[in-house]
Order: sequence, then C-alpha cells, then structure tokens
Amino acid sequence: MSEATMPQAIQDPAVGLKMIPTPASDYAGQVDLLYFTLLTLSGLLVATLVGLIVWFGLRYHQGRDGERAEPIDERRSRRIEAGFALFLGTLFMGLFVWAGWLYVGLYQQTEADLTVNVIGKQWMWKAQHPDGTREINSLHVPEDQVVRLRLTSQDVIHSFSLPALRLKRDAVPGHYTEAYFRATEPGEYRMFCAEYCGTEHSRMRGKLVVLSQDDYRDWLRGTDTGADPVAAGKALFQEQGCAGCHEGDTGVPAPDLKGLYGSQVSLADGDTVTADENYLRTAITDPQEHVVAGYQPVMPSFAGQLSEEEILQLIAYIKSLSAQGQGQASGDRP
Ligand code: CUA
Repeated sequence: MSEATMPQAIQDPAVGLKMIPTPASDYAGQVDLLYFTLLTLSGLLVATLVGLIVWFGLRYHQGRDGERAEPIDERRSRRIEAGFALFLGTLFMGLFVWAGWLYVGLYQQTEADLTVNVIGKQWMWKAQHPDGTREINSLHVPEDQVVRLRLTSQDVIHSFSLPALRLKRDAVPGHYTEAYFRATEPGEYRMFCAEYCGTEHSRMRGKLVVLSQDDYRDWLRGTDTGADPVAAGKALFQEQGCAGCHEGDTGVPAPDLKGLYGSQVSLADGDTVTADENYLRTAITDPQEHVVAGYQPVMPSFAGQLSEEEILQLIAYIKSLSAQGQGQASGDRP
C-alpha cells in the first residue's frame, strides 16, 4: 500500500463494536480473568455494603421498635474489625500482586519473530514491515508469531490500542516504545487511538488483520513494497552527509558506526550506555545528549530535518552495519 492510499473505512460488520472484544492473543484470557475477577469482587463488595445500609435503615430507623441486642463488648468488636481489615487487605493485596505479575510479564522484552514499526501522526497510523511493506490505518500480522511493535509519534502522544489483543501502548514523540504480542485467532479486529490527540482523534482508527503465516507471506508479496529500509537508510546516510564524517578515513574525528548497534558506548561524562534504537535515535536528533568519550561535540542535530520514517531507515542501516559483523564492536575508539 502506498503512502497515497487513503485510509479505508471499516466495512466488515464482524469488526463492529462489542462489549467484550473477541480474545485474540495468547494473553487475552489472562487479562480477561483478572478483569472479571476484579469486577465480580467489586460488585460483591458494593452489593454487600449497599444491602446492609438499606437493611439496617429499614430495620433500625428512628421510631421503630426493632429488637436491639445488648451491645457486644469492645474487645470483641475490635477483633471483628481487625479480622475484616486483615481479610480484605490480604484479598486486595493478592489482586495487586496478581495484576503486577501479569503487567510485568506482558511488558517484558522478549525475542520477537518480526518487528513492525508503527508511527502515529495526526490522525493516522503508519506501519512498516521488516521487508519495507507499508500500510496505513491497518496492520497485518501472522498468527502464532511473536510480533514486536516499535512505536513512536511524529507529533503528539497517541496510544496504540488493539482491544482484541488486550494491548495498549503509548506512541510518544522523540522516543521508541515497544509492545509484544502473539495473535492466536485469524480475523479482522479494531484498531484505535486511545488517547485524545486533537480534533480528529476519534477518526484515528483502523483494523488489525491476523493472517495465517502463509497468507501473511502472500500478503507481503502482493503488496507494494516501499524502499527496503536498509537501502533507503544507506541512501539517506550519503544524502544527509552522515558518510562525510562517519565513513572511511575522512580525517574528521567521528565515531565509526560499524558494530555500534548493541554495543556498550562510553560517554564523555563517564557513563556507559547500550547502543539500542533509542540511543541511535537520540544520537541523530540530539547529538549533544550523549557525547562519545574522546570526541568533540561537533555533530549537528538532525531534528526536524528527518521524518520519523527516515530516522527508522537510518537506524535500520546502522544496525545492518553490525549484522554483517564488520569492524569492531566499539563506538568509543578515539
Ligand atoms: Cu491519536 Cu488520539
């Protein structure tokens, strides 16, 4: 799908609004179980409290001769109170531990079978697959594969939401966030922006299409591929003048980028950072943020000159320099 393709409205009635979206990911069931447990317990608690208020109100209201037993003695009363507090405290701490454990598990980085870059902008979602295939306001993924989404935004904070997968993650400008999922049920599902981001926030939606692995391959093959991200990044690297300092023996003292990705970089201020996507992004848009030890802070910022897509292409190219195993794993040689 090309950039020019207009966002398509969802016509399939099967993707219509549902109170409980079809669970379509490996962890959807766990999220639902927690949700319904919380809902049931909260409902029981409210029903008990309101029920007691009404019952006592009717039975003991002023002017009514209800049978009033002798007041229980204070020690017993305190014990009953402490017992209740302990019971409810333990119960709800248990829920907290359960939810926390689930959250940590869902947000943990894992090995992924493929990474799809997703860029939010007012008011659409743009996705790019590893081979360069692009789509707007839709996301095609293979079933039973761990998909990593690398999210960012070109303007304001958006929130990428796939209710069927029970997945929601912010897309923050100037930063990459990640989300992981394994879709289990082929089909079409809703995709939303779940954070108010301007006038047409409510129209920032699309569909998630979960395909069998074969169908996904066919879909990639049958869809217009944009430029291969690595090749596009390489071209940008020349065009933008990066190569002038960072490639070959140029006489300009700039860190060598071969083997940089994934390595530990020593900084001028004594810190050490891992050269991941967020590091590379910052190095391009805000070079003074992390000055590499032994270098002068002379690199100009490229903020505002590159689109988020171009930054991702440059990162793809820089990563490819490490994948080929050329050069040393170092960004800190003088
Ligand atoms: Cu983007 Cu709401």
